[in-house]
Amino acid sequence: MEKMPAAKKQKILMGRVVASLFFEPSTRTRLSFEAAIQNLGGRVIGFSDSSTTSAKKGETLSDSIRMVSRYADIIVMRHPLEGSARMAAEISQKPIINGGDGANQHPTQTLLDLYTIKKKFGKIDGLSIGMLGDLKYGRTVHSLAYALAKFEGVKLYLIAPEQLKMPKEIIEDVKKNLKIEETSNLEKFLPKMDVLYATRIQKERFPDSMEYEKVKNVYILKEEILKITKKNFQIMHPLPRVNEISDGLDKTSAALYFEQAANGIPVREALLSMLIGKKKKVEM
Ligand code: CP
Repeated sequence: MEKMPAAKKQKILMGRVVASLFFEPSTRTRLSFEAAIQNLGGRVIGFSDSSTTSAKKGETLSDSIRMVSRYADIIVMRHPLEGSARMAAEISQKPIINGGDGANQHPTQTLLDLYTIKKKFGKIDGLSIGMLGDLKYGRTVHSLAYALAKFEGVKLYLIAPEQLKMPKEIIEDVKKNLKIEETSNLEKFLPKMDVLYATRIQKERFPDSMEYEKVKNVYILKEEILKITKKNFQIMHPLPRVNEISDGLDKTSAALYFEQAANGIPVREALLSMLIGKKKKVEM
């Protein structure tokens, strides 16, 4: 998609309508999907604030999906409820793209994460990847762990405080295909990593705000870490960040997170083209 001339791209979703339903806040996912739709010549309907919709009057998600699937060719949806995207897919007459369902999964983020890693390292097989921060509620790291298990010889370091460890059932699902090391000691494993995938401690997911206060500053990455990391070490982050990556790192060669976010556009263009594009096969 990156190489395709703009005029050619504009024809791919011509006449197609994409519904963008964001029941939860978003900057990157919503805007990169909407930019991708426009780049492909499609039209967008939807909302970014569900308090302006009939959900406010008590309409169920299933009824909303039944309706919207009659208005659009495909639905991109973000919702705070885990499993909501799967439920919507069972009801909808049109394909559903999960733009994040609560603390469960964020699969399109994973596609752009994989693309970013592949572009930077030329491969994914055999890399050592750290996941840092909120691994319990972090939907991006859940989806990424499942995806990395599809590659060969990936080593995964899971670094989190006790309260925010990766759910056991995910580890069970992926451990056959990944070499996994769980720890709370970041410094010990940093020198071994090719990529550190940092995440925000998500205040909004904690049932008890006192628990959030205990862990909110547990990992803050500063420039000094680069003294002990590999030469081509990269930091990724799905963003938004709060304080877990200090601004000082932004201008270093390790900062991959803004490039990562930018990759959301071509990756989402590709996904939409494959699902509802005018041509079955996108020519490169
Ligand atoms: N990475 C991501 O999902 O960002 P947004 O919440 O801004 O969409």
